[in-house]
Amino acid sequence: MKKKIVFITGAGISAESGISTFRDSDGLWEKYPVQVVASIEGYHRDPELVINFYNERRKQLLDCKPNGAHRLVAELEKMYDVTVVTQNVDNLHEKAGSTNIIHLHGELMKATSSRNPNDPRCIVTLDEDHLEIKMGDKAKDGSQLRPFIVWFGEAVPMIEPAAREVMEADILVIVGTSLNVYPAAGLVNYAKPDAKLFLIDPKPVQAPTLMDIHYIQKGASEGMKELVELLKEQE
Ligand code: APR
Repeated sequence: MKKKIVFITGAGISAESGISTFRDSDGLWEKYPVQVVASIEGYHRDPELVINFYNERRKQLLDCKPNGAHRLVAELEKMYDVTVVTQNVDNLHEKAGSTNIIHLHGELMKATSSRNPNDPRCIVTLDEDHLEIKMGDKAKDGSQLRPFIVWFGEAVPMIEPAAREVMEADILVIVGTSLNVYPAAGLVNYAKPDAKLFLIDPKPVQAPTLMDIHYIQKGASEGMKELVELLKEQE
């Protein structure tokens, strides 16, 4: 029986792929007011501005490739039962080959209904030939098509399935997240008392748990290499 590893990843795991994080010095939220471009109020106030913000981020994503960290996470599926719980809306875990991914905050390459964003009949996948959403584009329910993103002020429907995965993890690895945003950050609290916790980040991160955590204070690619070695030693 393979041991279960759950990864909780954030923007930092995609930093080496050229995607900016949110709260680092040159982060996205320094350039854009998060309430304006990443909240449900912001969308209602100016849907076209928000739709175009995500059109720009989607275009940038086309040139981005998974980095060594994404690839090592995917390769661990040979040895472990791996679940990736990501806050990222990019598709780099998928491109690296991970097969069991929960997107807590939605997916940049998908669009949905602005009336009922979680209606599965309205969720569509965008591609290089249809990358942009325009005002007037309609979802299947006739409402304005919008990015399939969980904005601030909206529910996080995948948090329960994610918590169930964390509760069963033998090993929990947090990579590239400042653990600033709930409910994602609170997932750490669902870890089993005997689970092994690791955290990979170049900066110190305060995890909301009293459990021991093995910190690997490195970037994601180098940190994942160190993690793989540590896991081999513990086998
Ligand atoms: N490798 C690993 N970690 C890195 C790297 C790197 N090369 N570069 C930066 N980091 C770390 C930073 O030190 C920081 O701890 O990645 C983390 C990024 O934190 P945030 O920018 O806050 O991103 P994240 O935690 O994913 O944000 C969570 O906030 O705005 C919302 O919806 C958005 O999903 C996002 C959520």
